[in-house]
Amino acid sequence: MLTLESVSATLANVQVLRGISAQFELGATVAIVGRNGAGKTTLLRLVMGFMPKHTGRVTFDGQDLAGVPARDRASLGIGYAPEDRVLFPSFSVEGNLRFPCEVLGMARRAVDARLAETLTIVPELEAMLPRSAAALSGGQGKMVALGRAVMAGTRLVLLDEPFQGLAPVLATQYGTSLQRLIRARPELCIVITESNRSLLKNIPTETLVLERGELQRSFVAAALSH
Ligand SMILES: Nc1ncnc2c1ncn2[C@@H]1O[C@H](COP(=O)(O)OP(=O)(O)O)[C@@H](O)[C@H]1O
Ligand SMILES: [Mg+2]
Repeated sequence: MLTLESVSATLANVQVLRGISAQFELGATVAIVGRNGAGKTTLLRLVMGFMPKHTGRVTFDGQDLAGVPARDRASLGIGYAPEDRVLFPSFSVEGNLRFPCEVLGMARRAVDARLAETLTIVPELEAMLPRSAAALSGGQGKMVALGRAVMAGTRLVLLDEPFQGLAPVLATQYGTSLQRLIRARPELCIVITESNRSLLKNIPTETLVLERGELQRSFVAAALSH
C-alpha cells in the first residue's frame, strides 16, 4: 500500500538515497536496518513529505504523494515517531497525544475514542497524561512519541530507531506495545528503522537492509540476522 519507485534524494549535494524501490503491504511489520548515516531517517522523512526535492515516485493506497504536502499526510492515516521525538514541551503529554488528531479537525469524541484505544496499546501513558512533556525522561518521551504516532497512524506507522537508548525495562514495554498494536490493527503497516537488528528480536518483521542509501536484497537481511 506504500510503494517507493526508484526514489533518490540528495542532501547538501551528497546523494543520500539511491534508487530505492520497495513495497510495504497492509498488515506488514517491516524493519529497515542500516548503520548510522545509511539514510534511514532521510527515507522516513521523505515518506512524511519533508524531502520534497527527491526523484522517483512514492504512492500510498494508489495515490501519488507528490501532490500531498507534509502537513496533509497525517490525514491519510500516517503516523510518525521521529528519532528525536520532537514533543511540544509546553503541552502536557495528553496535549501532545491529541495534537495530530486535533490538527486534522477530528471531532472531540472521535479524538477521545482514539486516545482510549491508544491507552490500551501503550498503557504506561495513562499515568503520564497530565505531566508536562518537558518533564519526561528520554525513554518516556519515546513512549509518548509512539502514542502520538498511534493516534494518527491508522494505516501506516513509521518509527525511527525507537529502541535506540531505551533502558531495558522501557524497551520491553515498547516491544509489548508494538505487539498489542499489531493485534489491535491487523491491517496496519508498521515500518521500524534500527541500526542494530538484535533490538528487534521480539518483533516479527520482514527485514530490509539499507547500506549507503541503497536497499540491499532480503537474502542479505537473512544472513545478517544470524
Ligand atoms: N541536514 C543534512 N545535511 C547534509 N547531510 C545530511 C543531513 N542530514 C543527514 N545527512 C547525511 O545524510 C546521510 C544519511 O543520514 P540519515 O538519513 O540521518 O541516516 P541514518 O538515519 O541511517 O543514520 C548521512 O551521510 C548524513 O551525514
Ligand atoms: Mg537516523
